Amino acid sequence: MPPAPPYVILDKNGPHPGPAPCLAQRLAAADRVLMDVGCGDARFIHRLAREEPAALCIGLDAIGAAMRPVAVKASRQPARGGAPNLILLVGDAAAPPAELTGRAEQVTVNFPWAGLLRGVTGGDPLLLAALAGLLTPRGSLEICLNLHSFQETGLRDSLALPTLDPPFLTTTLPQAYGRAGLAITTCRPLGDDPLPVGTTWGGRLGKGSRRESLLIVARPVGALTPDPLPPADRLPPPPSTSTG
Ligand SMILES: C[S@@+](CC[C@H](N)C(=O)[O-])C[C@H]1O[C@@H](n2cnc3c(N)ncnc32)[C@H](O)[C@@H]1O
Repeated sequence: MPPAPPYVILDKNGPHPGPAPCLAQRLAAADRVLMDVGCGDARFIHRLAREEPAALCIGLDAIGAAMRPVAVKASRQPARGGAPNLILLVGDAAAPPAELTGRAEQVTVNFPWAGLLRGVTGGDPLLLAALAGLLTPRGSLEICLNLHSFQETGLRDSLALPTLDPPFLTTTLPQAYGRAGLAITTCRPLGDDPLPVGTTWGGRLGKGSRRESLLIVARPVGALTPDPLPPADRLPPPPSTSTG
């Protein structure tokens, strides 16, 4: 068997190389696991951990530096912002720790960038399959995208992103998710709905130009209770079938 890819656990004392027995032990004791991938400064997953003290909450990001203040805060007493149920990992979303396979009830990806953004829009099958692999059979993957990255041609090309037109959203993207074992149950602009609470990037968008965000929810194929369909005016328009 190939060796497990390396990953790093970040706590108040700094980064520690994994695999760490504590991750396996904490998972074994956990009834419910929530993950935030591309968690940035980890404020969102820290808030979730405080709101759901019975859940094991795990933040994962490729870069650890921004998570340090939350790692320190989480180590305090709960009355002072502590969250003993929070674990922060530094690593690539395309190769999460094997211990996490099939464990997460909910995986959030808020305002992804770079490779993570390409992955959740179908440009990196390995990354999408890795996210799918984190989910329990009835788990959900909830992605909030900033549409601005797709609207400016220069930015879109430099990030190698697709054009999010209706044929892409209704056919190409569901096919890419299907190949990863996921079915998209929701794909709609957030419009005036609230942005995910407590993400630093969401806060910037909310306070600034209120650029459009797209919500994608996906679940493992075969274990679906479909979400109710959104009102017709919230669905992307169907591709034109006019033959002239
Ligand atoms: C725009 S920030 C959003 C951070 C946070 N979710 C928020 O809403 O404030 C995008 C994050 O994705 C992370 N990221 C990009 N590619 C990644 C990858 N392949 N694996 C893990 N994290 C990644 C970046 O390091 C960055 O922290």
